[in-house]
Amino acid sequence: MSFAVRSSQAIRAASRRAASKAPAKPAQAASYSLLARAGAAAPKRWTLTPAQSQARGIKTLDFAGAKETVYERSDWPLAKLHDYFKNDTLALIGYGSQGHGQGLNARDNGMNVIVGVREGGESWKQAQEDGWVPGETLFPIEEAIKRGTIIMNLLSDAAQSQTWPQVAPLITKGKTLYFSHGFSAVFKEQTHVVPPPDVDVILVAPKGSGRTVRTLFKEGRGINSSVAVFQDVTGKALEKATALGVAIGSGYMYETTFEKEVYSDLYGERGVSIDGPLIEGMFLAQYKVLRANGHSPSEAFNETVEEATQSLFPLIGQHGMDYMYNACSTTARRGALDWAPIFEKANLPVFEKLYESVKNGTETRNALEFNSRDTYRQDLAKELKEIDEQEIWRAGKTVRSLRPDYKA
Ligand SMILES: NC(=O)c1ccc[n+]([C@@H]2O[C@H](COP(=O)([O-])OP(=O)(O)OC[C@H]3O[C@@H](n4cnc5c(N)ncnc54)[C@H](OP(=O)(O)O)[C@@H]3O)[C@@H](O)[C@H]2O)c1
Repeated sequence: MSFAVRSSQAIRAASRRAASKAPAKPAQAASYSLLARAGAAAPKRWTLTPAQSQARGIKTLDFAGAKETVYERSDWPLAKLHDYFKNDTLALIGYGSQGHGQGLNARDNGMNVIVGVREGGESWKQAQEDGWVPGETLFPIEEAIKRGTIIMNLLSDAAQSQTWPQVAPLITKGKTLYFSHGFSAVFKEQTHVVPPPDVDVILVAPKGSGRTVRTLFKEGRGINSSVAVFQDVTGKALEKATALGVAIGSGYMYETTFEKEVYSDLYGERGVSIDGPLIEGMFLAQYKVLRANGHSPSEAFNETVEEATQSLFPLIGQHGMDYMYNACSTTARRGALDWAPIFEKANLPVFEKLYESVKNGTETRNALEFNSRDTYRQDLAKELKEIDEQEIWRAGKTVRSLRPDYKA
């Protein structure tokens, strides 16, 4: 089996640096995250009091008129979680952004977790730094899959496709196949990932980076995730997915399908979610018009990026759009309310085109083609460097350095 080694990922290094800060030691272990310990502690199982062990039950909530079932961490007290997975070994395949976050959270939650990555590769080194021990909890991919009962495929999406011919025969009857994206299974014509018919196939997709999965857990919070079932052989697939969602650090989960997850995720990340080009494109367009009309880089950056990210976006996140508008001057409010429908109208056709491009497989094809290149990391780094060198972001560095709380 050949899993050729690739070079390091800057993002993962940054994630690891952020995650390496130990959480404050709790006076009393009362929540999942408070039980999280930094570094390389061995898996441990906890016993909860009867009150802590009591499940609250699944809730149906009203989301703007639509009733949806949600699954919460409180549905799975730790004692119940430990009992549920007492005979399972979670084999986490891949130790990138998600592998790191999900793996450490599951380990801190007392799950029996092992990691499978290419021996000698960057992930192998990183996993050792995080306390996974070769021969005990860290194995080559093939060996980890053989030892695991729940196979959590957290390789990059392109790698899931590339390695599938070696991985597939090892997913034997009785195991569970887990993904964090619908990509591989839904776009099977392109990825050739066709799960064996005799295993449960489930998904837990955190709505955030692996770095956030870890930091929210350590802060006592939990990432929102979606859960889905692709194949239910045991009749317990959904239950297993929600339990795993809690084990990897989710706070609450909503149900979806593999197809809806991959469509909405690819669409969202290409649209307005934080790494989306809409925000970058909007910032750039607004900045360029200000510059073309004689405004200084500092003024253009402050009016475009700094005010939005530092002052207004957090208000939208915390309290909603109307609250943010109410916090602005009446002059700003009037203009914003007048221009919002104009931007909506201008953007709607772009979003329709984007959704179609996701649905017809163009986006998946592009991602697979690019990320399967041997030079994908260097090629990506080159493109990101070009962005970093744009005037707007160079101006941003100086603006940020003037913040009183700035740290180089
Ligand atoms: N990142 C996110 O924000 C996010 C959010 C939600 C869901 N997801 C999903 O979670 C899954 C994992 O994503 P990720 O971002 O964590 O991935 P990633 O950071 O890109 O992880 C890459 C992992 O794949 C391994 N790998 C790459 N090419 C390989 C090959 N040819 N053979 C064997 N191993 C190979 C790497 O090992 P080496 O170090 O040895 O190269 C590394 O362990 C994906 O399905 C993704 O869509 C991601």
